[in-house]
Amino acid sequence: MQKVELSEQETLVPSTQGNVLLVIKGPEPYSCGEGGCGSCTVMVSRYNPKNKKIRHYPVTACLVPICSLYGAAVTTVEGVGSIKTRIHPVQERLAKCHGTQCGFCSPGMVMSIYTLLRNHPEPTPDQITKALGGNLCRCTGYRLIVESGKTFCEESTACQMKGSGKCCMDQEEKSFVNREEKVSFCCICILFCFVEICTKLYNEDEFQPFDPSQEPIFPPELIRMAEDPNKRRLTFQGKRTTWITSVTLSDLLELKVNFPQAPLVMGNTEVGPRIKFEDEFYPVFITPLGLPELYFVDSTDNGVTIGAGYSLAQLNDALGSIVSEQPKEKTKTYRALLKHLRTLAGPQIRNMATLGGHVVSRPNYSDLNPILAAGNAIINLISKDGERQIALDSKFLERAPEANLKSEEIVLSVSIPHSTKWHFVSGMRLAQCQENAFAIVNAGMSVKFEDGTDTIKDLQMFYGSVGPTVVSASQTCKQLIGRQWDDQMLSDACRLVLDEIYIPPAAEGGMVEYRRTLIISLLFKFYLKVRRGLNKMDPQKFPDIPEKFMSALEDFPIETPQGIQMFQCVDPRQPPQDPVGHPVMHQSAIKHATGEAVYIDDMPPIAQELFLAPVTSTRAHAKIISIDVSEALALPGVVDVITAEDVPGDNNPQEEILYAQNEVICVGQIICTVAADTHAHAKEAAKQVKITYEDIEPRIITIEQALEHNSFLTAERKIEQGNVEQAFKHVDQIIEGEVHVEGQEHFYMETQTILAIPKEEDKEMVLHLGMQYPTHVQDFVATALNVPRSRIACHMRRAGGAFGGKASKPALLGAITAVAANKTGRPIRFILERGDDMLITAGRHPLLGKYKIGFMNNGVIKSADVEYYVNGGCTPDESELVVDIIVLKSENTYYIPNFRCRGRACKTNLPSNTAFRGFGFPQSTVVVEAYITAVASQCNLSPEEIREINMYKRISKTAYKDMFNPEPLRRCWKECLEKSSFYARKQAAEEFNKKNYWKKKGLSVIPMKFTVGIPYTYLNQAAALVHIYLDGSVLVIHGGCEFGQGLYTKMVQVASRELNIPSSYIHPYETSTVTVPNAVFTAASMGTDTNGKAVQNACQILMARLQPIIRKNPKGKWEDWVSIEKAFQESISLSTTGYFKGYQTNMDWEKEEGHAFPYYLYGVSCSEVEVDCLTGAHKLLRTDIFIDAAFSINPALDIGQVEGGFIQGMGLYTTEELKYSPEGVLYSRGTNDYKIPAVAEIPEEFYVTFVRSQNPIAIYSSKGLGEASMFLGSSVFFAIQDAVTAARRERGLTTSFTLNSPATPELIRMNCMDQFTEMGLRSTSWVLHSSRGDGGYSIRNIVNNIVITRCGAR
Ligand SMILES: Cc1cc2nc3c(=O)[nH]c(=O)nc-3n(C[C@H](O)[C@H](O)[C@H](O)COP(=O)(O)OP(=O)(O)OC[C@H]3O[C@@H](n4cnc5c(N)ncnc54)[C@H](O)[C@@H]3O)c2cc1C
Ligand code: FES
Ligand code: FES
Repeated sequence: MQKVELSEQETLVPSTQGNVLLVIKGPEPYSCGEGGCGSCTVMVSRYNPKNKKIRHYPVTACLVPICSLYGAAVTTVEGVGSIKTRIHPVQERLAKCHGTQCGFCSPGMVMSIYTLLRNHPEPTPDQITKALGGNLCRCTGYRLIVESGKTFCEESTACQMKGSGKCCMDQEEKSFVNREEKVSFCCICILFCFVEICTKLYNEDEFQPFDPSQEPIFPPELIRMAEDPNKRRLTFQGKRTTWITSVTLSDLLELKVNFPQAPLVMGNTEVGPRIKFEDEFYPVFITPLGLPELYFVDSTDNGVTIGAGYSLAQLNDALGSIVSEQPKEKTKTYRALLKHLRTLAGPQIRNMATLGGHVVSRPNYSDLNPILAAGNAIINLISKDGERQIALDSKFLERAPEANLKSEEIVLSVSIPHSTKWHFVSGMRLAQCQENAFAIVNAGMSVKFEDGTDTIKDLQMFYGSVGPTVVSASQTCKQLIGRQWDDQMLSDACRLVLDEIYIPPAAEGGMVEYRRTLIISLLFKFYLKVRRGLNKMDPQKFPDIPEKFMSALEDFPIETPQGIQMFQCVDPRQPPQDPVGHPVMHQSAIKHATGEAVYIDDMPPIAQELFLAPVTSTRAHAKIISIDVSEALALPGVVDVITAEDVPGDNNPQEEILYAQNEVICVGQIICTVAADTHAHAKEAAKQVKITYEDIEPRIITIEQALEHNSFLTAERKIEQGNVEQAFKHVDQIIEGEVHVEGQEHFYMETQTILAIPKEEDKEMVLHLGMQYPTHVQDFVATALNVPRSRIACHMRRAGGAFGGKASKPALLGAITAVAANKTGRPIRFILERGDDMLITAGRHPLLGKYKIGFMNNGVIKSADVEYYVNGGCTPDESELVVDIIVLKSENTYYIPNFRCRGRACKTNLPSNTAFRGFGFPQSTVVVEAYITAVASQCNLSPEEIREINMYKRISKTAYKDMFNPEPLRRCWKECLEKSSFYARKQAAEEFNKKNYWKKKGLSVIPMKFTVGIPYTYLNQAAALVHIYLDGSVLVIHGGCEFGQGLYTKMVQVASRELNIPSSYIHPYETSTVTVPNAVFTAASMGTDTNGKAVQNACQILMARLQPIIRKNPKGKWEDWVSIEKAFQESISLSTTGYFKGYQTNMDWEKEEGHAFPYYLYGVSCSEVEVDCLTGAHKLLRTDIFIDAAFSINPALDIGQVEGGFIQGMGLYTTEELKYSPEGVLYSRGTNDYKIPAVAEIPEEFYVTFVRSQNPIAIYSSKGLGEASMFLGSSVFFAIQDAVTAARRERGLTTSFTLNSPATPELIRMNCMDQFTEMGLRSTSWVLHSSRGDGGYSIRNIVNNIVITRCGAR
């Protein structure tokens, strides 16, 4: 027996830059750590001695125990290519196609595409999309990542529509984005709307060719090992655990007898998360190493038997080939399984998880077990005592003790019988997202008929996610035997099944009414499918389903996204070396793709370094009675516990709280931190800190509760024009309503990470962290340590995403870390795990909008009175600014002569909400568009007509009396309607809706007036520092932070133009409080504006200094001018700071007027969706964005911002749902519970056009595009509302209803009311509690909550 010494619980842990550190002590944090984000993807290759083939497959490293890799080759992103050696075409193309922004997801993206190419060197576009299904990206919006993958597809051409099966060359002038009509332009510049338009963001000719024969070979020694006939049992011995790999079946069975409680680790996708997140501990693990007995497919006349060791991906392949070989009637179960296998998790998990592991672990949400049970599958077991078979039936799935495996047994294989002619099997599921999301409800159903009839002989219905196990509706099925398959049977079946499957009001997962509705909606789908099947078999005997019901049969397909981006071409007269206006690649893109970009956690360990773990409050509002740290301090490796007592300076800077003292005011508040030698030790010890509390009343969680208790963080802000009350007296109609827009988690891929290093001398402290506001961090740290700010140095090179979440929170977390470093005198690394990050740092403010709107019957709005309340959480943070911005931007694009808007931040016992892309604008403007939609409904006009009627049309003043010119808005509006063929498509959608009862299409076109910047001049200032070295190279430093938006890249472009030298001469240096002091935050879309001006200023100063030398030698080269002999010899300083004072903005809140923002930016977005009225799922078919970009300094980066912002906005309004308990506990703390959009969610067709305008006050007449497009994502929300309205109209329901945000499947389904929702609901007036059943409140939706007053004739 071989023995290897290892430390315990080692997993394949990637560093944040994608490096795989093969041996890490204990579990380490990474982006999610639960297999849900794909950022840690690596390729595993194994040799199969039986068929002599090598299998390459992607895995999420965070779930791979290192011991399981014996005999496998692991390829990491560094193994694929590196800047130091040679970059791989996958890495090069991801970078050059602009598929990276912050770069944190990029190594995972590279590895997913690379692994695909190892198996399919010429993949199809569909395979690319499939391969990326398990990889999340929070920045890019995916389209450009898919685009990079598509360059490897066979049909790839120079056209960026490649892979779509279309070519832009085929298209004709004008309707470029119209599927039906043929249209204009190509990947070359053409004249378009008087401006030359380009569509090409990268040059394929620059790509190195991909030669699959050049890939590394599989290590021959691993082949020899695999073929070695004398393989022996392998034991890895850790301090607390032992891992045993058996090489023969008899050995494995022996081990199962000796260690009956030891898990048999196969894919580790169930065992791993249990150990990590549920604190389970196993002293022994057993795993088989490629036993042939577990890896086989055996096909017979009656069915197929598949080895338990087959991964779900291999199962998919095996079933795929059986389906292609066997007649259709025999393969109904296999096809049902294949459908679910396409969307179950992502490819990584499907390649790791095994059939045996899936069957045995019996998760209640299982997508496969209900179908296997309905298909009468048999489990083949083996133990030392022999073999036996058990049915994979209701007893097994419901965990009846008599149906359990014995502890010494293992599953050898699963046998699935062929279906027969009169036997129908189906699987149905509904999840928050199409792919990589657990089902909200799923089902496997089968029915057998007496031959030649529709008389039920046998019926089986299994449901997942409706209870603690998969459950069977066996009583219902029994009662229906002998019945005809007709509507009466369906009606009885629905009633019976709802009686049988009881979901208690407090059920885990909540959504009780919705899940009850789904139970019968899925049954109805099955009913229709079977009726259709019967009709196909004997059309004379069995009538077909109505034509209008056909669309209920199919789920939405996952298509490969395609699209076109149009932007201004560079003036041909511009010097070739001037990069301004060109789609220059992100300056770190290649490093992102090779994993060589360094994030904080990639910084090597420092001597004596300690790790920090937080202890957070479990109560929302309570007195701290005691903190007992004795057990924690006694644990190995623990150095200290840090509390408020240890803060030498101020523990409450600017009304914030570092460590809770005496009282806690939210769940998740940091009470103390534990410093230990490893992260595992710190984490373990943190769990042992005992805190006792005494609850304090009131506990305020919701906005409504805050209003009840008069609990506010800020005073009211108000803007008013005209005479609102008076105007209400003179209108035809008044409507009143409320809209809830829920919060949003930033979900930056790099969680908050801080490294604090105390210096030996003068109380200096150095901090490395991802941040947006270095000055703020410096301030809080200095205040906490009670030292001058000059002693605190904060540094960052890049952050793996920020989106506002790294504006204020790093100051708190930095100060907490610094206090620990100060107390222990040792460097401290504080990395928040995903769950803690979500819990502690909070996110976007949830908003309640209340409106009263007075309007004429022709749609003209005369008067509006709108109140906004945001849930600020427990401390001020950025709430005041958020409210300011909400109120100032609250009119969006509409002129309402009598307008009053008020806003206030509520103080609640939730973690403090903070800045998030758009600062409240994306929430509040949904309320505006909601009342526009409500007015439309009352006037019997379309929402776009109401928009058009009330939209600003000429130079005007805002409600706060600021002059602006909406001309670009009008252009965006007109072009969007025209180029998207809005009206034709709307008509087509109406036709579709008439023909389809259960699926509805909807369109919306949403205009936007966005103001860039902050209403305080001093927050618009910026500084830069530029050095020219004597070899001519230039160092550019500024106060802006880089977190994916490409700020450093744009600053290089600015310096290149100003100094008139190629970009290659210029190096951007890290952001630091040492080099540029007192920098303001990088936020509000102002980074390029302000820092660009500062860099420009510095460069112009330097050029002015060099002028005398240049004049003397005008034909000379840059190097000549700045060289030792010239500038230096003449004692010309080659270093300077640059400064931008800030745009002159002002806002007088007393007078309610001002010039609050430097400039305006406009945009219009049109989206089309299709909604499944039976499940609530939706599919985004197409989006067109027209955005006023003025002159884009870098169209690639700006388009990336627009697409990424749009998708992030779409997530806010559709899938991203934070769930809390009524006690204020956040439930959504990871990728499983919180769904940011994945590749399957993005529009099938995505068109972005930059509309040209002028912006002379900004650098190079550009505009800041970082935030604006977030709100454009609401076009998806309103398109969904349009589709739901169509469904409601057809069902005779009122079309005046409010859809709250996010429009989740739950809300969509429950608003498409029908007989199934009626049965699912316990009462007709309902309030949805969408969090776990104990009644969270993330969504509140009261149907028909718009109050309408008809004012009669004036
Ligand atoms: C991110 C993520 C997303 C997921 N999404 C979905 C989803 O959408 N739908 C869905 O249905 N599932 C989903 N899953 C669950 C997944 O399908 C299961 O975790 C998986 O099938 C378990 O297989 P495994 O090989 O990894 O089991 P392991 O974790 O290796 O083992 C699980 C259990 O089974 C036992 N076991 C394993 N093999 C045998 C055997 N041959 N004989 C006896 N006992 C055995 C082990 O002892 C252990 O107790 C997801 C999981 C993850 C991590
Ligand atoms: S970190 Fe491994 S999947 Fe997210
Ligand atoms: S680039 Fe994908 S997460 Fe930032």
